[in-house]
Amino acid sequence: MLAYRIGYGEDAHRLEASRDLWLGGLKIPGSPHGALAHSDGDAVLHAVADALLSGLALGDIGQYYPDTDPANAGLDSATILRRCLALAREQGYVPLNVALVVTLDRPKLGALRGDIAASLAALLELDMAEVGVSFKTSEGLAPAHVQVRVTVLLGRVDV
Ligand code: C5P
Ligand code: MG
Repeated sequence: MLAYRIGYGEDAHRLEASRDLWLGGLKIPGSPHGALAHSDGDAVLHAVADALLSGLALGDIGQYYPDTDPANAGLDSATILRRCLALAREQGYVPLNVALVVTLDRPKLGALRGDIAASLAALLELDMAEVGVSFKTSEGLAPAHVQVRVTVLLGRVDV
């Protein structure tokens, strides 16, 4: 029998001028602002990590990395994602494809679509063609806000 699971994750952060903008493990060059967060604020990696956990009913990243714990300050979000990938593997599952939507008014990200997909694919050990990256503006409704929504398909490797 084939075994598949679907995961869904979201993340949002306030944007501030003093911060770097990280998305999918990539530092966005020339961004006028970045996510205000306890960690590096990479909303793509946080949402993907939550999607992996949700697909396997393993809770969410806040349970593993509480933002009240000083040890998590400035944490590299790739570390969080790698741990969630390892938790999925412990259940016998690996991600098969990922689809994500970044809602952000500026900067425009279209030119970086391939770079973000490649960075995320490398972290997830997927091909770039298995990582769908879409961008939306908020149409000015949330100019100081970045929002990411992610679905992931997980497949069991040992069936
Ligand atoms: O949100 P909206 O439909 O107006 O987005 C129009 C286009 O702008 C889309 O093709 C999207 O890929 C692109 N876009 C972008 N960078 C963003 C937001 C949207 O390249 N930060
Ligand atoms: Mg976050």
